[in-house]
Amino acid sequence: MRAATLVTCSTVIACVIATTTRFAQFDQLVIFGDSYSSTYFRPRSTQPSPANPFGNIGELRTNGPKWPQYLATKYNESTILVYNMAFGGSTVDQAIVPSRTNGSFVKQLNRFLNVYSPSAVTKTPNTTLYAFWFGINDVGKLFDSNGTASDADVLASGLYTQIFDRYFSLLRRLRTEAGARNFLFINVPPLERTPIAQKAPKGPYNSRTTALVTSFNQRIAELAGKVQNEFAGSTVYTYDAHGMFDHALGEPGSFPELASVRDTADYCAAYRW
Ligand SMILES: *[C@@H]1O[C@H](CO)[C@@H](O)[C@H](O)[C@H]1NC(C)=O
Ligand SMILES: *[C@@H]1O[C@H](CO)[C@@H](O)[C@H](O)[C@H]1NC(C)=O
Ligand SMILES: *[C@@H]1O[C@H](CO)[C@@H](O)[C@H](O)[C@H]1NC(C)=O
Ligand SMILES: *[C@@H]1O[C@H](CO)[C@@H](O)[C@H](O)[C@H]1NC(C)=O
Repeated sequence: MRAATLVTCSTVIACVIATTTRFAQFDQLVIFGDSYSSTYFRPRSTQPSPANPFGNIGELRTNGPKWPQYLATKYNESTILVYNMAFGGSTVDQAIVPSRTNGSFVKQLNRFLNVYSPSAVTKTPNTTLYAFWFGINDVGKLFDSNGTASDADVLASGLYTQIFDRYFSLLRRLRTEAGARNFLFINVPPLERTPIAQKAPKGPYNSRTTALVTSFNQRIAELAGKVQNEFAGSTVYTYDAHGMFDHALGEPGSFPELASVRDTADYCAAYRW
């Protein structure tokens, strides 16, 4: 029941973010990420407005709303307009880890700055929260493109250093060109517990996933600390999606939202990705 897990866990993500970020101070949310976040917003089409906080929403390929929708319209404490630049399949930079869809943070940021900077969207950085959820495809693609390398080889290759140098330089650009002051970083869930990993041939695959995810998440924590230290006056939030997914996949019954979930290891047809 992957879809049910994803969708209802999204409720938990939204709920925790809403309760830990003094969310009421924000009236705009700008999101960069992959399919876990994307609502397939077209930035040159209908714009977000109080009556229509997401502006336009494309085909979600889930059997329900995603976390940004819960966060902005259910757990919100004010009206919040959402500029969701996230795009399915995105990595941080396709020049470093190629993306299946050509999506990347590089492209999302270019698009955002081209369309919205300067505009009313970038004029009020104190009340705008910028959220980032990358890594799921970066880690995932390492298996596809590098099936025989060991996790130690990948970790020693300097690839993560390249990814995170790039990630930071993109954040610096967002800071410089759009004045971003409030940052939320979401880390990578335990991909080794997903149905696709559970069904893959046993062996190094699962243990590699664990090591690569753990290392990626350490880098995200370091990145968050670096942003806090180097961008004067910024406020940085982190959300531990890894811990939440791990808990939810292991003990779905401990979350009211997951009370009906019976199987967290198999593919769910409602999730049509
Ligand atoms: C939350 O967002 C919805 C949709 O924009 C809005 O109707 C509602 O009034 C908001 N809630 C609060 C407490 O402002
Ligand atoms: C990605 O970009 C390349 C080069 O422009 C193009 O040939 C390819 O069709 C694109 N792939 C997708 C899935 O859009
Ligand atoms: C934004 O917040 C900073 C620090 O809290 C403050 O110094 C600044 O005056 C604020 N800017 C606006 C336009 O409110
Ligand atoms: C594949 O792994 C090697 C180390 O064994 C590394 O040097 C290389 O950058 C990796 N390539 C990709 C695309 O992950």
